[in-house]
Amino acid sequence: MAALLFFVLLAVFGGAAAGDDVSALLEFKKGISDLGKDQVLGSWSPPETTYSGRGGDGCLAAWRGVVCDGGAVVSVALDGLGLAGELKLVTLANMRSLQNLSLAGNAFSGRLPPGIGSLSSLRHLDLSGNRFYGPIPGRLADLSGLVHLNLSYNNFTSGFPTDGIRQLQNLRRIDLRSNSFWGNAGDLLAELRNAEHIDLSDNQFTGSVDLELDSLSSIGNMVKYMNLSHNRLSGGFFRNEMVGAFKNLETLDLSNTGIGGMLPRIDSWFSLAVFKVAGNGLFGMMPETLLHNSMRLVEVDLSQNGFSVTCWSSWTPGLGLSISLPHKLT
Ligand SMILES: *[C@@H]1O[C@H](CO)[C@@H](O)[C@H](O)[C@H]1NC(C)=O
Ligand SMILES: *[C@@H]1O[C@H](CO)[C@@H](O)[C@H](O)[C@H]1NC(C)=O
Ligand SMILES: *[C@@H]1O[C@H](CO)[C@@H](O)[C@H](O)[C@H]1NC(C)=O
Ligand SMILES: *[C@@H]1O[C@H](CO)[C@@H](O)[C@H](O)[C@H]1NC(C)=O
Repeated sequence: MAALLFFVLLAVFGGAAAGDDVSALLEFKKGISDLGKDQVLGSWSPPETTYSGRGGDGCLAAWRGVVCDGGAVVSVALDGLGLAGELKLVTLANMRSLQNLSLAGNAFSGRLPPGIGSLSSLRHLDLSGNRFYGPIPGRLADLSGLVHLNLSYNNFTSGFPTDGIRQLQNLRRIDLRSNSFWGNAGDLLAELRNAEHIDLSDNQFTGSVDLELDSLSSIGNMVKYMNLSHNRLSGGFFRNEMVGAFKNLETLDLSNTGIGGMLPRIDSWFSLAVFKVAGNGLFGMMPETLLHNSMRLVEVDLSQNGFSVTCWSSWTPGLGLSISLPHKLT
């Protein structure tokens, strides 16, 4: 019965992609609180006045922050407009052409519903700088076209799902900074196959980066920026054999993560510009070779560890705890 109803509805509404988008956005708009809504979204008025029919170039062109292509809405971007409200993002779940959903820097709250997994065209999801909360649905893994995921500076409190995340082969930038995510950071890193920018900082991730080469070789090839600082990791630094696998690493920040032990020889990170491991339990030899070999190094922070002073007095002027090295000084 339900299936029959579904097909009937599909037959009735199936062709009206943009029309569905209009009703979805009008439902979505209801979640935005009245304060300031009309100044900003006054243009989002019902179809009779602005919607010029199915398809066509006139598709919602007058709606602020909305971009259409071929009659369907491809982008909704409402960044930094001072908007607030408890959003029901599930209202957008049927917008199958939506490629860009960007709501950064407002005061929105609400949950990320499993229905988000239905946004099969989504490439860019930015909810950063709001008050979204709750768990991240496993159906995030259905967003196979996702390139950019930014959930930073929100109030998400959950384990970040790892099951299926490796299906997100297009994911290049993942930014989860400053939430209360927990879970095993190593497991997540092992799933991020092609990410270039990985920011898990300022959360409550546990686990270790001291992983087998097999687990990390995939991101090793890709990652340029990795920030795991301010988490609750344990175990050691990346293994010796792993160091060679990071071919393009430019920034590594493992400050205040709780890792310990000795550093391996880091003499193959030719692209490295920023290296920060402050506030951990590292000791032993300083990564001196790093300084000799990397021509690009601009910032090194080894402070608040147990490195032996004699090892590094040879190349630092005293105990500058946060060392900034200009390009020339190697
Ligand atoms: C999505 O929208 C944001 C905000 O307008 C913009 O900065 C970004 O470039 C857009 N991304 C894509 C892939 O269209
Ligand atoms: C994520 O969003 C924050 C705040 O809007 C921004 O500062 C940061 O650069 C974004 N991250 C990425 C990887 O673009
Ligand atoms: C985050 O959630 C906590 C607990 O529910 C709440 O006390 C806090 O105000 C929230 N923060 C923001 C920025 O909404
Ligand atoms: C890493 O993340 C922390 C906390 O979010 C931030 O303060 C720091 O600037 C970041 N490090 C780099 C090198 O970007």
